[in-house]
Amino acid sequence: MDKKGFPMKILIVDDDPDQRELLKGFLDRQGYETLTAGDGETALHLLKREMVQLVLLDHRMPGLTGDAVLAKIRETNPTQRVIMITAFGDVDMAVNAMKMGACEFLEKPVDLSLLLKRIQQAEQAVAVEEDVALVSEAVDESPLPLKIVAESRAMKDVLSLIRRMAGSEWPVLISGETGTGKQLAAHLIYLLSPRCDRPFLVVNCAAIPENLFESELFGHLKGSFTGALNNRKGRFELSDGGTLMLDEIGEMPLSLQPKLLRAVQDGKISRVGSENEIDVDVRLISVTNRDLKAMAEKGQFRDDLFYRIRVLEIEIPPLRQRREDIPALLDFFLGRYATSKVRFSPDAVDQLIKYPFPGNVRELEHMVQRAVTLSRGNVITQQDLPDEIRHFQTVTRGGTLVEKLEAVEREMILSALEKSDWVQTRAADRLGISERVLRYKMKKSGIQKRQFI
Ligand SMILES: Nc1ncnc2c1ncn2[C@@H]1O[C@H](COP(=O)(O)OP(=O)(O)OP(=O)(O)O)[C@@H](O)[C@H]1O
Ligand SMILES: [Mg+2]
Repeated sequence: MDKKGFPMKILIVDDDPDQRELLKGFLDRQGYETLTAGDGETALHLLKREMVQLVLLDHRMPGLTGDAVLAKIRETNPTQRVIMITAFGDVDMAVNAMKMGACEFLEKPVDLSLLLKRIQQAEQAVAVEEDVALVSEAVDESPLPLKIVAESRAMKDVLSLIRRMAGSEWPVLISGETGTGKQLAAHLIYLLSPRCDRPFLVVNCAAIPENLFESELFGHLKGSFTGALNNRKGRFELSDGGTLMLDEIGEMPLSLQPKLLRAVQDGKISRVGSENEIDVDVRLISVTNRDLKAMAEKGQFRDDLFYRIRVLEIEIPPLRQRREDIPALLDFFLGRYATSKVRFSPDAVDQLIKYPFPGNVRELEHMVQRAVTLSRGNVITQQDLPDEIRHFQTVTRGGTLVEKLEAVEREMILSALEKSDWVQTRAADRLGISERVLRYKMKKSGIQKRQFI
């Protein structure tokens, strides 16, 4: 990995002097600059004085524990990178520390080559933060195994996250509105992962009748229920060694969630009608367009399962928050669906960029398919667009000067709010007005707290 001319500074915190020396010796030889601390207090003290890019933190220490040190670090520096080093097999601790915001875990005894890989990943992430443009250029150089349009900063960040997550074994949760490209992202993770030559299976949890769910996922024995005529493997067994994507995981019946938890946590399943446990080695990618966290809080989804499946998390932003992708997506789908040299007229593209696409990329894709089929010439004009797009925000065109100005103002405010994720202070900054004035204007234009235009 490119060290960009400066060695990363790493703080090793461990009460065991042998372990400290081992890690220090190894990292020094790799060309990193290292500091060591024998207890949490010393570590926190050092962190106040030194600019450290990464902390390797032992979990079990007398005095301040790893958890306590991590909590203190988070108070003063929420973005400090920390790799927690935990006792072998202590998954509960790992999940707990993940909730507290540790970046990664390694189990003892530390596998040095894995440690180096994690450090290199952290190094890359640090570099991304320090020089986003330069790094994304370097990362973007290796070609992707499938075509995915990413012109916007937001999608470039998603891609960079995918590239970094693909190599690890932790479960991933991908969330986002309908049609944003979640399945595409899951597929890309699989293709970039070391498991790319093993099976990739997709189960849509919304499509399986509840009474067949358990058998579908975990298999069954002959005669275990009416209609079970033969022994049958479930999706977990079939994807052994590979990757399993559970689409719409929010629809997973609560009654089955403990069994899924056991599979994710311990890699053990049992077929319906059987007492025998079977070991499976499956990387899980869960996908949802629902707010699983809110569901977990309301008891509609198991809390413990939620934390296990979203150790790594990717949120794909809706298309209206990354409108720079729209022109590139239009070209991409024209290339896919148009036989001749069909293109969109500039005013059609303008109108499409304004439209909020509630169905996201899929809606755009269908729109292109339809426009290509219906278009008479080689140019698709605004008139050829579907009504809901053509008539969207026509208010900006007709009317008096005052009406037009109000419409423009309203549009600018909505756009600033969207770009700022509806954080009003940031939107006000963008518009160059105070937050108070923004609130006044929002009220005047009838803009509610969060509304989808
Ligand atoms: N960035 C992109 N570049 C190219 N094609 C994309 C991109 N994002 C999505 N698509 C395409 O848009 C369509 C919808 O994507 P996908 O099925 O992955 O969405 P989804 O989020 O899983 O939707 P749903 O929630 O409805 O299941 C697919 O044909 C996919 O290939
Ligand atoms: Mg999907």
